[in-house]
Amino acid sequence: MKPPTKTPVSDYLAQLVGQSVNAIDTPGLVIDLDAMKRNLGRMAEFARKHDVRWRPHAKTHKSVQLAKLQMQAGAVGICVQKTAEAEVMVDGGVYNIYISNEVVASPKLARVAALAHRIAAENGQLSIAVDSAEGVNRLAQAMNEARSQAAAGAVVDVFVEIDVGQGRCGVPPGKAAIALVHEIRKHPALRFAGLQAYHGKAQHLRSAQQRRDAIAIVADDVIYTRRVIEAEGVPVDLVTGAGTGSMVCEAASGVFGELQPGSFLFMDADYAQNERDPAQPQFEHALFVKTQVISSRDDHAVCDAGHKSHAIDSGLPLVRAFDSECELEYFNGGDEHGILRPAGGSRRVPAIGRMLWLIPGHCDPTVNLYDFMIGVAGGLRKGTVERIIRVDARGAAT
Ligand SMILES: Cc1ncc(COP(=O)(O)O)c(C=O)c1O
Repeated sequence: MKPPTKTPVSDYLAQLVGQSVNAIDTPGLVIDLDAMKRNLGRMAEFARKHDVRWRPHAKTHKSVQLAKLQMQAGAVGICVQKTAEAEVMVDGGVYNIYISNEVVASPKLARVAALAHRIAAENGQLSIAVDSAEGVNRLAQAMNEARSQAAAGAVVDVFVEIDVGQGRCGVPPGKAAIALVHEIRKHPALRFAGLQAYHGKAQHLRSAQQRRDAIAIVADDVIYTRRVIEAEGVPVDLVTGAGTGSMVCEAASGVFGELQPGSFLFMDADYAQNERDPAQPQFEHALFVKTQVISSRDDHAVCDAGHKSHAIDSGLPLVRAFDSECELEYFNGGDEHGILRPAGGSRRVPAIGRMLWLIPGHCDPTVNLYDFMIGVAGGLRKGTVERIIRVDARGAAT
């Protein structure tokens, strides 16, 4: 199935390339490319040092271009959360994809099976998570139907998801996984590839010790589950999981062979509130909403970026003014407005027309609000627009 037709690059965006950062209209989603590349380099170095694979989550950027950049930097492939995201990535030429989520609807599974064959034809690999026998059987049925039409039969790698504290998808750690492993192994189009153990809630525990404690329990759950599966004579080749907040703990556990962080690429305001584990690479904010002041009074200013410009599910954005005398706090002003008040002892209210940079509370849903990201090289104050990056999988929700 073809993804919906994409919005063409407008004349405005096309003409921006090569121009000063000052030419970017507001509100606009901007990537500080230098900071993003440093984040990428630090992630690659971290994975090398700890001898783990990394498979960054593309739900963060939804961009084929950035997925390819991550793979050039050493990522084994990407994670996606949705079948439609996987389709967009395959259309763009990304052929090592893990759908780190349960897919159970038959029409979607037919698309998953079609993708598995397209990817296999490119010598790539499609993987998927499961947490029910029903899900396994539906996937197997879709694969069998696709196989009967294909010249060569593709095989999907299947990870059994265990619930290690998130309270979302996954079977309980331990014996419940065994039945699923046996179910998977009944089907020639499926290969049991290992376990998914992702603890989303642990990512945002504020102290490093809290995260270490949470992931120590995760590691115990994984070890126990792996032991009961291997006692049945079935090897568990790979354990995959982790996000930006906790990945140092999974990497140090010796249990995880693959890390799935996504947010490290852009680093949102929410993650900035985590106490940094000394072992954690120093990731920088790299995604910004450029905004400008449209109204100014004695005690506050108003900017043109409200919550249609950035997601607020993880809190309001931080404001970067690049001026030590102008510190500002952002308050919700509705869909199209942000209220800015002096903060941190500063009394200066920015004047009309002043450009400011917001660090979104949560990057992933912010990116999903835009068709394009504007990549700036040379810094946000004096840099130049280097390229326009399409949010290819914007709205790819099915
Ligand atoms: C299964 C899974 N893996 C990895 C991630 C990446 O987490 P983060 O963006 O916090 O690094 C997520 C995020 O929600 C996820 O759901």
